[in-house]
Amino acid sequence: MLSNSLQNKLNEQIEKEAYSSQLYLAMASWAEVKGYTGVSEFLYGHSDEERQHMLKIVRYVNERGGHAIVPSLDQPKTDFEDLRSVFEQILKHELGVSQSINEIVDHCLKEKDHSTNNFMQWYVSEQMEEESLARSIIDKLDLIGNDSAGLYLFDRELGGFTPE
Ligand code: FEO
Repeated sequence: MLSNSLQNKLNEQIEKEAYSSQLYLAMASWAEVKGYTGVSEFLYGHSDEERQHMLKIVRYVNERGGHAIVPSLDQPKTDFEDLRSVFEQILKHELGVSQSINEIVDHCLKEKDHSTNNFMQWYVSEQMEEESLARSIIDKLDLIGNDSAGLYLFDRELGGFTPE
């Protein structure tokens, strides 16, 4: 059985993952409208992944005898300066998510809740991957700068298009 305090923290994490999904959806829509088809595909996919992150916690809380609460969500930003600023905001957002996941893990250790600790380790690895992906994309965008051919290729690559 989950403690009340851990249940509350997991419910807060459900809200963060749900908001991540909304945020990436808003970014995907912006990218699509701006003509960055590949980036928008990538972000739509990322938005779906965040919903799965949320769902995993919902199922876990309920399996452990708690009650997962589906949150109401704030509207994310709808407009972005450029691609670099989108990925900078993603990195910043993910660093915040990583911090809250680490806090949950600390709490699990304090309470000696080994199951939840074990469950959260998947999120610890996932966060490392997400942070490193966002950093590598920002590095690429820095190399490309304002080169339109470079941006075109970057967009195709991110969308998973195979080079012709
Ligand atoms: Fe589910 Fe991007 O953290």
